[in-house]
Amino acid sequence: MSKVRTVYICTNCGYESVKWLGKCPSCDSWNTFSEEVRETRKNISKNPKIEPDVYHLKDLTIEKESRIKTGIGEFDRVLGGGLIQGSAILIAGDPGIGKSTLVMQAASKIKGKTLYVTGEESTKQIKIRAERLKVKNDSLLILAETNLEGIKNAIEQTSPDVVIVDSIQTIFNPAFDNGPGTVTQIRECTLSLMDLAKEKNFAVVLVGHVTKEGFIAGPKVLEHIVDAVIQFEGDKSNTYRILRALKNRYGNTNEIGIFEMHDTGLSEVKNPSELFLSERDSHTTGSIVTSSMEGTRPVLFEVQALVTPSHFGNPQRVATGFDYRRLSILLAVLEKRAGFRLSSHNVFLNMAGGIRIYEPAADLAVCAAIASSISNTPARESTVVVGEVGLGGEIRSIGNIEKRIQEAEKLGFNNIVLPKNNIKLLKAKSSINLIPVENITSAIENIFELQR
Ligand SMILES: Nc1ncnc2c1ncn2[C@@H]1O[C@H](COP(=O)(O)OP(=O)(O)OP(=O)(O)O)[C@@H](O)[C@H]1O
Ligand SMILES: [Mg+2]
Repeated sequence: MSKVRTVYICTNCGYESVKWLGKCPSCDSWNTFSEEVRETRKNISKNPKIEPDVYHLKDLTIEKESRIKTGIGEFDRVLGGGLIQGSAILIAGDPGIGKSTLVMQAASKIKGKTLYVTGEESTKQIKIRAERLKVKNDSLLILAETNLEGIKNAIEQTSPDVVIVDSIQTIFNPAFDNGPGTVTQIRECTLSLMDLAKEKNFAVVLVGHVTKEGFIAGPKVLEHIVDAVIQFEGDKSNTYRILRALKNRYGNTNEIGIFEMHDTGLSEVKNPSELFLSERDSHTTGSIVTSSMEGTRPVLFEVQALVTPSHFGNPQRVATGFDYRRLSILLAVLEKRAGFRLSSHNVFLNMAGGIRIYEPAADLAVCAAIASSISNTPARESTVVVGEVGLGGEIRSIGNIEKRIQEAEKLGFNNIVLPKNNIKLLKAKSSINLIPVENITSAIENIFELQR
């Protein structure tokens, strides 16, 4: 006996309701509820006889995890060294950003049998793309199928090492009445593929679209199920694309991979600092170079600030690529501890090149860029600025200082302004001029000193 009932599920956070809601009470998003049909089976025994396998932790043994390299260095680093057999990763991104291009290029280089399942395009379209990307791989198998049972049969027949599903929103399990792309279908298809992956020991790469609000369409729930979520982002108007791990059960989530999109496909950017600084004009005001650790790699980039007088009571604060609340705190510190009158100015802040910064090590550079713009003074030439700013205006020490110094040296910078406490811990001698600073006032004096 089974009973059918209708539920409404928030496609953003997975919240369930018995009636349709305009606004989700759990994640506050609007118009995200979709109707789903649920079947409840009544005659399940209350106390089923299931023999659970309970182990002592000390008795468990592990084999060395085997990783399958995708052959694209930037992609492998974001994954933490390659795809793990028996695991599932989700590649999420805006429509047209280049997800299919990335997985096709990876599929061509994977050493092992790869099954590429396309639910969106025909085999002919795949062939056209493969020709354009100059893909040559004799063990690459293509399947145009949306029915989960057909995909599972193909996996049984071909025993692949890697299965790519492009995209998970197009796949459906015929056992459920819901259409493809609904929360139930996406969840059930993913769980079913993951079970098979664990049983047959292959890696699953799922491609997923992001809705215009920036959420992984039909559902955030998927993020909890899969082992890694890799976001493919970038501005379609420029050629740069960033691959970022939002979640990774087998690796560091701070790593980013940087690519350039050409008509022949994606090419890796091996030295991102050069790329982010390539269009910088060092004589403009409001521009400061800083360094951020992207996983294990230091990346130099430009912080840009534009400060203009506000003619209205409520000045604007706009931050791109930087936390808005952190900006408000730094503005308060600049006002209170360094005497800049910012409450009557609009402040626009931008991390050039579309990079997003989460590290407090960029605080001092943000303060310096704002100070440079409001006082109309360019920062001293060839200088990198790093340091966390405390509420008392003190410059606090940061991690990985040696790596950051090396990167600045490598790119030919002459000076680096850094927290005083970091100097004590430095072991290696460097040819770059180290300028230790203790508080925001002395830091700003040092950053602009040589220019005056
Ligand atoms: N013939 C072409 N010449 C140059 N660039 C191309 C060409 N065809 C596609 N592109 C580039 O590839 C991008 C689309 O790549 P791709 O199909 O991999 O994206 P996607 O994320 O899979 O898109 P979708 O969401 O539609 O599946 C385009 O935005 C464009 O930048
Ligand atoms: Mg695609």
